[in-house]
Parts: sequence; structure tokens; C-alpha cells
Amino acid sequence: MSTGIDHIRIFDTTLRDGEQSPGCSMTPQQKVVMARALAELGVDIIETGFPASSQSDREATAQIARELRTTTLAVLSRCLPSDIEASARALEGAARPRLHVFLSTSPLHREHKLRMSKDEVLASTAKHVAMARSYIDDVEFSTEDGTRTEEDFLAEVIAVAIANGATTINVPDTLGYTTPDEIRGLFQRLIANVPGAKDVVFSAHCHDDLGLAVANSLAAIEGGARQVECTVNGIGERAGNAAVEELAMALKVRNAFYSLDTRLDTRLLVPTSQLLQRLIGMPVQRNKAIVGENAFAHESGIHQHGMLRNRSTYEIMNPSDVGWPNSKMVLGRHSGRAAVGHRLRALGYALEDEQLDQVFEQFKALCEQQRVVDDDDLETLMTGGVAGR
Ligand code: KIV
Ligand code: ZN
Repeated sequence: MSTGIDHIRIFDTTLRDGEQSPGCSMTPQQKVVMARALAELGVDIIETGFPASSQSDREATAQIARELRTTTLAVLSRCLPSDIEASARALEGAARPRLHVFLSTSPLHREHKLRMSKDEVLASTAKHVAMARSYIDDVEFSTEDGTRTEEDFLAEVIAVAIANGATTINVPDTLGYTTPDEIRGLFQRLIANVPGAKDVVFSAHCHDDLGLAVANSLAAIEGGARQVECTVNGIGERAGNAAVEELAMALKVRNAFYSLDTRLDTRLLVPTSQLLQRLIGMPVQRNKAIVGENAFAHESGIHQHGMLRNRSTYEIMNPSDVGWPNSKMVLGRHSGRAAVGHRLRALGYALEDEQLDQVFEQFKALCEQQRVVDDDDLETLMTGGVAGR
């Protein structure tokens, strides 16, 4: 089944893994607002929270479940009966519920966090996946710190999870430690060799500690993953999770290579990003791919000149495809005469070459005083006033 799916499922964990990171917490009401936007964006699964950990997550999950009837809603549980019961209760009203159960598998986590032997991890996986499955048919099992786990043991745990009813197997790169080649091979081998693997969906959940979360998620897709776990703006523990906007656009722009796309309405990527920035009060950096202020801004003369002739010279996607109204030609110290002339024409000034030369000289002088020259400054230059701030 992992290889028979015709699109990449987006499992959005902005409201769980994203929200649990410093500075990103949300009230239940804010989560509901964000969940509506995610559903509108077209994500396949929304992880609404960790019900056993907070009343606020229980409330948010119940409200979201009442409202969103066509998107699958997942909640997280440790391998503990009390967690699974709390999760099942929180999802009671949901039209499409999913229980997401996780357990660490790596030697470091087994020894220092769980204090469990391999056999105990296998037994706990079997017991808690089966318990989750007794409540709900859609069960995802995650092998926390999976990419730092001995591969033969990882395969054994996954086989047990599948045998006990898991329908999605998520192999997290919890510490953002893996590399594209490594995770591609890992997914290929697990899907080829683990009993039952072909009947479930394999999922990648990559963190960004080395700045590789999106690259690793794409490589996991090449290895056979058909679900990817992401967050808006890449928020999440430490350096964050794979950013949904980057992943979705990589699949779209390079579709000839991947032949698989998401079902997102990518024109909503920027509005969704901006909504999250407002809700949690955490702006993205200007040069953030896709959703940053500079993602479609051009200042240098050479680039602006190319853009004016044909935008494909310096843009690989159309800004309107991700929700920006247009590209931005920022006028500053690096801009050339062509861009200044173009802007002046847009403001209604048709200048002869000589006039343009003069204005361009004044423009250059102004750029020594300020970083950006805007339309008001150009108007002032044209009307002979003193431009500048
Ligand atoms: O990073 C991780 O391992 C997780 C799991 C709980 C899925 O977030
Ligand atoms: Zn995570």
C-alpha cells in the first residue's frame, strides 16, 4: 500500500509538535482557528495535541472534532493505557479519528529514558498498539528516535506494531540526525523487508537540527514514504520540524522528478503562515523559503534586469502559486537604472534617457543615506523635493 498511494499525505503537527516548542503555545481557541486554516489548506491529517498531557489539548481536540468532519484528526499518546484512554475519549466526537501511539526504540532512549530492554519495548509495542486498535481502526505507531535505532531491532518493532494493528508506521528522525542518503535507504529496506510493510503507510517525521528536515523528508519519499509529518513555518522542538510550505513546493516545482504531489491548495501557504505568525507572535525570518518577506524580492540590478525581461530568469515558481500577490522589486543601493525607470513608468513618469540619467544619479545619492527607496521617495525626487528619511 505504501507504494500504491497516488499522493503524499500531509500529516500536520503544528498543533502538537509545533505547539510544544518554546514560544509557540496556543490557547484552545487559537488551535481551533489554526485547525480551520489547515483544513482549508488541504492537509490530510491534523494532529491536534497530546490529550493526556493537558486539559487545554483535550478541550481543543474536542472543539476541533465537533467542527472539522472531513479531515482526519490525530492525537498523541505514550505507550500507557491511561494516555490511550485519554486520547480515545478526546476523539470521541470525531468523524475521522486516528490514535497516534509512540515509543522510543534507540539504545540511548531504551537505557536512559525508558530503562527498558529490547524485549520489554517489543512487548509494550504489541500491547499498546493492540489496545489503541481496540478503540479506533486508524492507528499510527511511531518509533521515537527511530533513525538512531539498530536497524534489525527497528524492523522487529515495526513488524510487531503492524501485526498488532498499526495502519501507519512513522519512523521519526527525532534528533534531526540522519542524512538524505541514509534515510532513503532505511525506508527502502524497511518497506522491502518488514513483514506486512506493504499493507501499511510509511511516514517520515524529520526534525531540523542540521537544517536537513525537508531534504530528509524528500529522501524518505524517494525511499517509499507516502506520509510526511510537517509543521507550518517549520515550528517545532529545538530547530523545528520539516516546514510544510517548503516540502509542498519542492514536490510541486520538482514534480517531474518526484511524480507525486500533495493535495494542498498551495495558494493558501502564505496566508496560513501569516496566520500562525500572528497567533503565536513569532515572525519568520525575511529570507525564509516560500513565506519570508524576501522569498520573491529582488534588489540587485542584474536580477531586476533579468526579471523585467522574463521572470523565470530569477524565479523558479510564481509568487501567486503560494499566495503572494506578486514579486517585489526592491529599489536600493544594488538596483540598476532599468528597474528605477520601470518603477517610474509604473508611477506614471515617462522619462527621456537623459532625464532618467539625472534621476538615477539622485536615486544613487539617496541610497547612500537609506537602505530602501520607496514610491514616496521617487515621487519626491520627481517633484524636485528633498527625498529621504
Ligand atoms: O520527534 C518525534 O519523535 C516525535 C514523535 C512523538 C512522533 O515527535
Ligand atoms: Zn517530533
